[in-house]
Amino acid sequence: MMGQKPEILIVDDNVEWTSNLQDILQVEGYIVAIAHDGRTALSLSNEKTFDLAIVDFKLPDRTGLELIGELSRVCIQTVYIIVTGYASLHSALEAVKQKSIIAYETKPLDMKRFLNLINQVIKRGEVQKELHESEERFRNLVFNLTDLVMEIDSQGKFTYVSPQIFNIFGYTPEEALGLNAFEFVHPDDIPKCMEAMASTRQVVNLEYRSRHKDGHYVHASTSGKIVPDVHGGNSLISVLRDITEQKNVEAEKKELERRAYISSRLTSIGEMAAGIAHEINNPLTSVIGFADLLLERKDVPDDIRQSLEVIHSGSVRVAGIVRQLLAFARQDRVKKEYVNVNEIIENTLAMMAYTMKSENMEVRTHLASGLPGTMGVAGQLQQVFLNIIMNAETEMKRAHGKGKLLVETEAIDNVIRISFEDDGPGIAPETLDRIFEPFFTTRDVGEGTGLGLSICHGIITEHRGRLYVRSELGKGATFIVELPVIAVQEQVELAEAVVDEAEKVTGAKILVVDDEPGVQKFLKQVLTAGGHNVETVDNAEEAMERIKGGRYDLILTDIKMPGMSGIELYKNVQKVARSLSRRVMFMTGDVISTDTRDFLSRTKAPHIPKPFDIEKLVKDINGMLTGNRG
Ligand SMILES: Nc1ncnc2c1ncn2[C@@H]1O[C@H](COP(=O)(O)OP(=O)(O)OP(=O)(O)O)[C@@H](O)[C@H]1O
Ligand SMILES: [Mg+2]
Repeated sequence: MMGQKPEILIVDDNVEWTSNLQDILQVEGYIVAIAHDGRTALSLSNEKTFDLAIVDFKLPDRTGLELIGELSRVCIQTVYIIVTGYASLHSALEAVKQKSIIAYETKPLDMKRFLNLINQVIKRGEVQKELHESEERFRNLVFNLTDLVMEIDSQGKFTYVSPQIFNIFGYTPEEALGLNAFEFVHPDDIPKCMEAMASTRQVVNLEYRSRHKDGHYVHASTSGKIVPDVHGGNSLISVLRDITEQKNVEAEKKELERRAYISSRLTSIGEMAAGIAHEINNPLTSVIGFADLLLERKDVPDDIRQSLEVIHSGSVRVAGIVRQLLAFARQDRVKKEYVNVNEIIENTLAMMAYTMKSENMEVRTHLASGLPGTMGVAGQLQQVFLNIIMNAETEMKRAHGKGKLLVETEAIDNVIRISFEDDGPGIAPETLDRIFEPFFTTRDVGEGTGLGLSICHGIITEHRGRLYVRSELGKGATFIVELPVIAVQEQVELAEAVVDEAEKVTGAKILVVDDEPGVQKFLKQVLTAGGHNVETVDNAEEAMERIKGGRYDLILTDIKMPGMSGIELYKNVQKVARSLSRRVMFMTGDVISTDTRDFLSRTKAPHIPKPFDIEKLVKDINGMLTGNRG
């Protein structure tokens, strides 16, 4: 508009008057069009927008007021001056009721005054148009932002909100106006909002939660400024962005990192545990073995026998802990079968029923019917459930002498979820991450080893599942086990080797290969007692020399030894004495690497875990010698 010449339309059936007026206005610098009736005026207005129309009160085809009514519908920006030869109060009043009509003039016109009026009208129109345009621009900006723009007065009331409030908070702008902004802020976030507002007149990227109309909380990030408002007070104008999704993604990432951290931590602890177990296992084998041997003797005096029993039971207990450590370190891979989780839960609860009842524990179950199955080791899963239930029982009892436990199963998205919700004391946030660590316990000395949950974690990880806990201090704890849904598979029946009571073989020539003198000594004693002819060596290289030089019926070898390993020894034996290689028995029991495990299952080579169960050792060796490999 600026710089452009204003355009005026004259609508009057008086040809001479219109052309005179046109001349005068053109001299004044206006562009002027003429219409002698309403119809022509309408068609001209359809082609262009006039800034001003000077309309005669009485036209051949309609009244001036009628025409203005029609024109206003086409072009809203045009303003009008009505001109008439017959002034009447009535017509004047009618005219100015229409707000687009600026003035009412009677003929004959005082031309100087009239031109003045036109000038003013045009100028006012220009200003209004600019104002309108700029308003339109800002409205467009604000309406099309995805962020919410708002103005809040010093009382906290919304005095302006852009329509985005509906998308973000579910309120229409009309509903929101007059409401108090602070009423929606999450109670925990009010102090930080107050502080941000009080400390500075400018708030930058303040994050807080604000309530949606349907009750949930939206994560908002807002930037704003306190400015003087039109009423002489202060208002906060600010822009708010909905960052809920971003927050959720962040939280998810954090959770993933936390899980990765826990599992890597557990893995390294597991490796250490397995290493320690390895170191303990060998000497333990001798301790248990010799205690066993001595206990079998008839000539041991009673007082010594009692001491021996203490040594024996103590070392068996240590062996149990070592086994648990190895289970935690996931060294104990047992064949998985198709299992029914509900059934395992029911069995576990049945086992615990008496204890729970006598301790005032109310157990409720909610087991999904038709729960899909998974592959697992029922005994191990039962151990997990038992540990979790026993923990809950201990904690609830300690907190209030009774308790409620809810056990639920459900299948969600290919996952079987089993939850154990108790109303015990809950777990403090700083403890929450540590409870799965081996030896972490809050129990008194002697009341807990702190191995329970770490073993559960190992077992569930081995089952390709997840074990985690949700808890707040004072609000109970919920332990959740998730297992993958696995479709029913052809049950691969393992051909169970039938071990008949084999006849007892004696007099076999056996070579024992082990770097641990205690183990050598023990095996020599046991096997010699069994009527065999036993040689021992402490490394595989020497074993190889002996094998080349003589004939043996059986080789009993450790796997992990300095220098040549038991597996390498086996491969070498295969080369020089193939039939003997079928009578090599491995001793395992500590850290079985994946390679070793693969090797053992591939070659189906017999192996016996340390510490030894003497009866099994004797039986297995006998079986091998008679060709009845169990
Ligand atoms: N349901 C529960 N409520 C509150 N705390 C629990 C709950 N279950 C476990 N905990 C906490 O986790 C710790 C570790 O549990 P975990 O089962 O690993 O060991 P423990 O029960 O202390 O000993 P263990 O099971 O070896 O006898 C417990 O000492 C206890 O502090
Ligand atoms: Mg426990």
